[in-house]
Amino acid sequence: MKVILKNHWVVKPIEPTWNGTVCLSEFDQTFAVTHVPTIYYYKLRQDYVTSTDDIIQTLKTSLSKALVHFYPLAGRLRWIEGSRLELDCDASGVVLIEAETDAKLDDLGDFLPSPEYNSLFPSVDYTIPIDELPLLFVQLTKFQCGAIALSFAISHAVVDGQSALYFLSEWARLARGEPLMSDPFHDRKVLRAGEPATAPPTFEHLQFNPPPLLIGKSDSDFEKKIVTKGSMLKLTKNQVKLLREKANQGRNLEDNKERSYTRYEVVTSHVWRCACKARGHKFEQPTNLCICVNIRKRMQPPLPESYFGNAIVDVITTGVSGDIASRPLEYAARRVREAIEMVTSDYANSTINFLKNQEDLSKYQDIHAYRSTEGPFYGNPNLGVISWISLPLLGLDFGWGKEIHMSPGTHEYDGDCVIIPGSEGDGSLTVAIILQDAHVEAFKKFFYEDIEC
Ligand code: COA
Repeated sequence: MKVILKNHWVVKPIEPTWNGTVCLSEFDQTFAVTHVPTIYYYKLRQDYVTSTDDIIQTLKTSLSKALVHFYPLAGRLRWIEGSRLELDCDASGVVLIEAETDAKLDDLGDFLPSPEYNSLFPSVDYTIPIDELPLLFVQLTKFQCGAIALSFAISHAVVDGQSALYFLSEWARLARGEPLMSDPFHDRKVLRAGEPATAPPTFEHLQFNPPPLLIGKSDSDFEKKIVTKGSMLKLTKNQVKLLREKANQGRNLEDNKERSYTRYEVVTSHVWRCACKARGHKFEQPTNLCICVNIRKRMQPPLPESYFGNAIVDVITTGVSGDIASRPLEYAARRVREAIEMVTSDYANSTINFLKNQEDLSKYQDIHAYRSTEGPFYGNPNLGVISWISLPLLGLDFGWGKEIHMSPGTHEYDGDCVIIPGSEGDGSLTVAIILQDAHVEAFKKFFYEDIEC
């Protein structure tokens, strides 16, 4: 697929916005310089007769209005002492790119992730000094058949998934000529941003320790270089139900004595189990599973749903590969639940205290940059499973109809997994997982066969 970049613009807020420096919270600080990519594909509504110029104009005008409310996205980051970041809200602007491809939308088939589609995403040049690097890139790509793709790369140091999707849905409302649903909540001080260290942590924070290595290895350098492959594995509503029944077998769900495992807990433990099997570990191989938890409702007092920033924390559950693979699904599901239940307001505050007490944060940044030489490696024998199940991902309508498909951006980190709700809203789920090439077929086999047996 050939993609030609035709034009690009810097879009700024249409009105003057608050100008000044914002202290970031500790949760923002662990996502230093990555931009999270997502893509939406559209077949334009038949009654929506327009040209690419009109679409660009609509996007530009509505984006410049949206940035008045979501002004932190138009700012720039800046390094300060201790490898920490702060955000300069200076209305420098975001980047909108216009592109065209020689492909038709049908050429993408069932949208299986492929490095071939990378050029449908904005390419972020991290050699640019951070204080010049825009925090939001948007790319509109026109297909030969008239369909379009809209892709976004949004700075993780500024927002998490929920905030990013909240911004996109409010921008789309403005593009449709509707008013904003709610104003974003910008006060990061509710997560003690900018405050000095007070108390030491009260929990053990495994997420900041190096995860286990393969038995017999002294580092993960070799594993990091192995070629990986992405798969999108669908689970029908019935398959999810079967997995849930399997995980709940033998548990007392009567009278609410025990709470049924959720779809996330069940599918995540199934993925962990299948990965342990497919990777062919020794029985006693230690393995970590990293879970990302939204803390908005868990904080005391809870944060507003419209909190605009990162309000997520990682928690780790550990296991021995042989146990995870050979014991019933309930064993792994219980470990997943116990880890999630640990994430209380006290746990989140302890995480903040842990990070505030670090003189230099660089060691803890890019925690998700699995390939970095310094950072922890969540590839073989480990895994990170992120839930997008309850995020408002679907139905992003800028005026030309809802998307026909959306997906996370392609990347290549072994062990990186996202659970996405089925685009039909029918209770199905899709597991997007990156694994070493040599493990993919075995993983798929266990993934589907183990549901039935
Ligand atoms: N809309 C619809 N259903 C919702 C919902 C929403 N907004 N929020 C929760 N639910 C449902 C869930 O789907 C689940 O039902 P199910 O068992 O039928 O799937 C139930 O309510 C419980 O959900 P939750 O409390 O979220 O538990 P979980 O086990 O599904 O997920 C976590 C656990 C930790 C993954 C989840 O709480 C979380 O934090 N998710 C957000 C992760 C995130 O921010 N990802 C992006 C990172 S950038």
